[in-house]
Amino acid sequence: MAFKHWPLVRDVRFAQKCGRYLRGAKKRRPDLNWEEFHRIARHFKADDMGSFPERGYLFQLASDLPTDAQVIEVGSWMGASTCFIAGGLKGTKAKIAAVDNFQGLSTCGEDAAWYNRHFRQLGVKSTLEIFRENFASLGFSSRAEPVVSDSLAASRSLADRRGTIDLIFIDGDHSYDACRADIAAWAPYVKRGGVMAFHDFGSRADGVTRAIFEQIKIGRFAEIVGVAGTIIAFRM
Ligand SMILES: C[S@@+](CC[C@H](N)C(=O)[O-])C[C@H]1O[C@@H](n2cnc3c(N)ncnc32)[C@H](O)[C@@H]1O
Repeated sequence: MAFKHWPLVRDVRFAQKCGRYLRGAKKRRPDLNWEEFHRIARHFKADDMGSFPERGYLFQLASDLPTDAQVIEVGSWMGASTCFIAGGLKGTKAKIAAVDNFQGLSTCGEDAAWYNRHFRQLGVKSTLEIFRENFASLGFSSRAEPVVSDSLAASRSLADRRGTIDLIFIDGDHSYDACRADIAAWAPYVKRGGVMAFHDFGSRADGVTRAIFEQIKIGRFAEIVGVAGTIIAFRM
């Protein structure tokens, strides 16, 4: 095990990095419940799918939504990003539909290899139970609606929710074709004035960057809401 993954070393690094992030975040947005963010971050200490600024930004986007907001996430893996969004939501009817095949199936070769390695280490064939356990541990089960499906198939089966969604977060298949297809399939779900956000804009997943750039150029998005790390969010 690499030195940085030793439990004590990991805990010290977590306390330093998270503490540093929170000092800035509290100054920028003193109105948000950063204790709740910290509680979720502690739970996902070992997760390496996103940085504190990215996790914090998802938490902020969700906190800024109206009461009982409806969210769709495409690509949930073990539910870390999903829980940061869940932690920011308010209202007893707020919900996140978490769309994922939960098997790391992806047309993006690099990603598929990474998922395969993780599945071998985990000794399981699906991350669905881990996703459920994470939601239950944090007390968010009532907010989660896992949708075990391919993204495009889910966009057809959830068709009655078109035009009703406050926030969509896309972090599924990172190939150019898949990201382009996801944007076309899911953009109609966002209500006017709602937000569509993406992970991995400007990251090594250049297909994602290219697909989003194309959509910016054709005027798909009304305005940029914000950027944090490789997350970019647009108003629709
Ligand atoms: C990068 S991970 C998501 C990480 C998660 N958003 C987080 O930050 O904690 C991408 C996920 O997308 C899923 N995925 C990839 N292609 C998909 C597709 N076409 N349909 C549904 N899920 C897909 C994979 O199974 C994987 O769990």
